[in-house]
This record gives sequence, structure tokens and C-alpha cells, in this order.
Amino acid sequence: MNQLVEKSSSNDMLQNDLLYAQIIEYSVETVIIHSDFKILYINQAGANLLKGNKEDLIGMNVLSVFREQSKEKIKHRMANGMLDQSPSDLVEETIFCSDGTSVEIELYCHPIQFDGRKCIQTVVRDISTRKEAERLLNDREKLVSIGQIAAGIAHEVRNPLTAVKGFLQLLKESSSHPYLMTMEIELEKAIDTLQNLLQVSKPDLYAEPITRINLCKELTSLMFLFQDKLYNIEVELDLRDSDQCIYGKRNLFLKAFFNLIKNALEAMPSEGKIRIEHFCKDNSVYVKIIDNGIGVHKDKLKLLGTPFYSSKSDGTGLGLTQVFTTINDHGGHIQVQSELGRGTTFNVQLPIQPGTA
Ligand SMILES: Nc1ncnc2c1ncn2[C@@H]1O[C@H](COP(=O)(O)OP(=O)(O)O)[C@@H](O)[C@H]1O
Ligand SMILES: [Mg+2]
Repeated sequence: MNQLVEKSSSNDMLQNDLLYAQIIEYSVETVIIHSDFKILYINQAGANLLKGNKEDLIGMNVLSVFREQSKEKIKHRMANGMLDQSPSDLVEETIFCSDGTSVEIELYCHPIQFDGRKCIQTVVRDISTRKEAERLLNDREKLVSIGQIAAGIAHEVRNPLTAVKGFLQLLKESSSHPYLMTMEIELEKAIDTLQNLLQVSKPDLYAEPITRINLCKELTSLMFLFQDKLYNIEVELDLRDSDQCIYGKRNLFLKAFFNLIKNALEAMPSEGKIRIEHFCKDNSVYVKIIDNGIGVHKDKLKLLGTPFYSSKSDGTGLGLTQVFTTINDHGGHIQVQSELGRGTTFNVQLPIQPGTA
């Protein structure tokens, strides 16, 4: 009878071990079992995370995936893990995969019995998506607060400048000093910069009704504004589906496409070619502004649209911020492709249905 009970309980244990092995093997989290830092077991999720083969990873030193400066800390944590009864605290770290890429992870360790001896089980979780989201949120919060401060200052400074402009115009009527003209031009520039700043940081200040807009017509008339800059620049307009309209704030769109065309022309200081395409596809209007100018370095691509990022000595770095804000506010998307020395393409997609702006 006793033998029977023992047999059935050892059967149960075997079943439990098998069940445990299956749970671990198919876990979405990386599980590594190691002893004296030598990997004895790693599940499939672990092999995927480290971009390696299980066979190659087993036998490897578990510390080898950590950064040099972290190894000592991790070593301690794992050594302590042998003594602890409960899992260690979560640690955030960066590990290196077999192909040299790095991943942000969090891990905890605890002791387990494996193959009849006490080992450490380390559970690793990929947190790169969470970290990226945290970074974006952080950047966005920073931008929002910078935007709010900037909008406050712009608002306060613009009012007295507008008053000065009024008095300057009165002065011009009674006197014809040559400096008055220069003063007025410079003042216009300052007010314009403040206006741009206000528009990108507090766009709702410029409540504008949503209207039907024919982008083909607007793009054609915008090109007339650049007549004086088109010397030595070849312009190619490929405007298809020209009857199609979208809905949105007309002035914001005019300004956005003005900014894109202006940038394209500024990217070709002596000569070049600008091509503007317009077409409809799948309920969206697409506008492409293509130039064969100086291009943008790939490291700088992600900076495009960040307020005040400019590579020009007289740039404000607000043009693309206005473009990105306007397109996003109208439920659209914008993509940039660029190659240094070859040119840049701004690809704008806008929904035909009324946007959310
Ligand atoms: N078509 C383009 N070709 C090359 N670089 C561009 C282009 N459009 C924008 N850029 C880069 O993006 C930066 C930011 O543009 P923008 O926000 O309009 O500010 P600004 O024109 O005042 O510098 C520019 O200084 C330039 O480095
Ligand atoms: Mg610009």
C-alpha cells in the first residue's frame, strides 16, 4: 500500500515537473537557469531575445550579455539571489544580443532546484517599447512646457511691437527718413516670428473655420509667390485628381505648404529641380514635395519638426514645426526621405473626410 502511495506521488512529481518545464519553455518572458554563472537552461523566448541558438547559449557565462560596468552589480545580485527566499527586486539593465544589438530589459532572480541542485532562475523582460514610450512622453511634456512659456512670451512681446509698428507708420506719413523703411521691415520680421511661434505653440489662438480646400489650386497659386526665387530652378508640377477637395483650416495649410516649398528652394541655393505631386488614393490626398537639394543627414532626420531646430544661419526652426502640427491636427501623416547631397522628399497624406482640426 505504502509503495503504491509512493509510486503515485513520484508520478505526480514527474507530472508537475513536466508541467513546470512546459510553462517555462512556452513563457513569453525569458527564463534562464544558471549555476556559477554558467547557463544550464534558456527557454525559447530567451533565445529569441538574445537572437541566438539555444545550443550556443547553453554553457555560456550569463554575465557576458551585460555591459562591462554592470557586470559586478549583476554578479552580486545573482549571488544574493542564491541566499534569498523570495525573488530579488526588479533591476533595469541593457543587455547585448548575439548580433551586437542592445535591448533594454528588467530582470529578477530567485533560487530554484534544477537537476537536483540549487541554481538561480533569472527572469528577463524586454522593456524597450515601454522605455521608448516613456522617453517620447518625457520629450512631449518638455516640448509642451517650452511651448507654453514661449507662447506666453510671444504674446506679451507681440502686443507692444504691434503698437510700435502703428506709430512707425504714423511717423512715416510725416517724415521720410530712410531708416524708417528698414525699421519697418525689421519690425515686420520680428512680429512674423512671434506670430509663427504663437501659431505652433498655441494653435487654437487662431481659431479658423473649417472649409473645403482644393489643394491643387492652392499649390499652383503658392508657386507664384516664389517667382523671384525660381531663377535657375526647374519646377515640375504633376497635379492629378485636381477636382478633389479636402476639409480643414485653409490658412494653416497654405502656410504649411509655403514652408515646405520654401525649405525645398532654400535647399538648392544655386540651381536644382523641385517637383510637386498631387494625387488621390484610398480616401486620402497625397502631396509630395521633392527637391534635389542638399538633403538632410540621417542622424538629423528625427530632429525635423522639433521647434527651433535649424541648420541655417538665419533660420527660425519653426517652419517644419508648423507643418507637422498642421498635418497632424488634420488627421494626416507626414514622412520625410532624404539623402545627403541628393535631395529630400516630404510626403504628406491627408484624409479626404473632414479632419479633427
Ligand atoms: N527640403 C529640405 N532639404 C534639406 N533640409 C531641409 C529641408 N527642409 C527642412 N530642412 C532642414 O530642416 C531644418 C528646419 O526647417 P524649418 O523648420 O523650416 O526651419 P528653417 O527653415 O527656419 O531652418 C532646416 O534648417 C534644414 O536643416
Ligand atoms: Mg523653413
